[in-house]
Amino acid sequence: MDKLIIQGGASLSGEIKISGSKNSGLPILAATILANGSMKLSNLPHLNDITTMLALLRCMGVDVTIDEKMCVEINPNSITHYDAPYELVKTMRASILVLGPLLARFGEANVSFPGGCAIGSRPVDIHLRGLEAMGAEIEVDGGYIRARAPNGLRGAHFFMETVTVGGTENLLMAAVLAKGKTILENAAREPEVVDLAECLVAMGAKIQGIGTDHLVIEGVDELQGCSYRIMPDRIETGTYLTAAAATRGSVMLRHTRADILEVVLLKLEEAGAKIESGEDWISLTMNGERPKAVSLKTAPYPAFPTDMQAQFMAMNTVASGSATVTETIFENRLIQVNELNRMGANISLEGNTALIKGVERLKGAPVMATDLRASASLVIAAMVADGETIVDRIYHIDRGYECIEEKLQILGANIRRVPG
Ligand code: UD1
Repeated sequence: MDKLIIQGGASLSGEIKISGSKNSGLPILAATILANGSMKLSNLPHLNDITTMLALLRCMGVDVTIDEKMCVEINPNSITHYDAPYELVKTMRASILVLGPLLARFGEANVSFPGGCAIGSRPVDIHLRGLEAMGAEIEVDGGYIRARAPNGLRGAHFFMETVTVGGTENLLMAAVLAKGKTILENAAREPEVVDLAECLVAMGAKIQGIGTDHLVIEGVDELQGCSYRIMPDRIETGTYLTAAAATRGSVMLRHTRADILEVVLLKLEEAGAKIESGEDWISLTMNGERPKAVSLKTAPYPAFPTDMQAQFMAMNTVASGSATVTETIFENRLIQVNELNRMGANISLEGNTALIKGVERLKGAPVMATDLRASASLVIAAMVADGETIVDRIYHIDRGYECIEEKLQILGANIRRVPG
């Protein structure tokens, strides 16, 4: 397994481009199943999860061609079967996103039941109950979700007890081809849900309330193919900004947007960062100053994203003052705490809240993480640590950060990958 070796001490400085969003690319790839024609997607990030979703589409018989710039052309009309096998679902939970589109378009889907993962049990009960409300017959058998809607789905009025990003996306993709009107209440408002909805509208779907928690979908008979550009990755953006703040640096990020990470920018300003932004760029400078500790609590959008919690905790470990970080979305997502403490951080845990007392510097150590964003927090910690840190199991990082070591090298970090 590859490792990252990082010598701490450099302040990040310079300019990089942000990649397309993984979490909007995945549902949009699943949505291509709905098109009666060819879809052209650009700005997909070159990441393992995206490759897995393309492999999943291919194994159903979907025609996929990719050019050297990761522009992908997909024609689902060659689809021959409607299965998401265990071998692919076990490597990527987001495979569940093909369930809604397959059922809506072909009346049949067999998707391996996604298991729990390092950050929590992550059930899919709301996805299944929403599809049942639209008339699907669902059975769980031999580890597979077998869903049928031989006469098509019909519109329903459905309330989601928990705000779920994947659940909202699956039900939205099912509803666009259902007969009649669907109302999704307490829908997730994450920018990635908005990006998916806008792509569906470009394909001919009728959706109102985009960006709100009340989505009204009028089913149509057919959707067409279209060309669509995936939005920038707000979590990648936030990660580099936080890394720059932690290292007292100054960075310019291109190909990104400030309006999709407002709370994160406000929190970075609270930490002492000076932030400016334009239509497709964000800059941050700390003027060489140590960040101030900032408290936060994760919650669904527009509140502070759970996917940025670990990176802020890493910044807080070397900030002046103390802060609390409370995780409310996933039950086991403070997994980076032990590793950060091994690097000399002062973090104590009480339930789902971490109390972080800032220290002057961390100390390099061999570390590893079992989750994508926790791994990113260890890379940030390594850059503010004295000496060398070896981050193991970086396949987690490769799931969410395109060319992370190249981008950090451009910003002046002393980081290299060694094959394991
Ligand atoms: C997506 C993101 C992930 C992010 C998360 C929360 C993708 C590919 N992944 O994950 O990076 O951390 O949103 O912003 O977009 N839940 C249920 N029943 C369900 C579905 C969810 O109880 O049927 C619970 C989950 O266990 C969790 C909470 O709802 O506690 C939110 O999960 P959800 O928004 O569904 O996360 P994902 O879509 O899996």
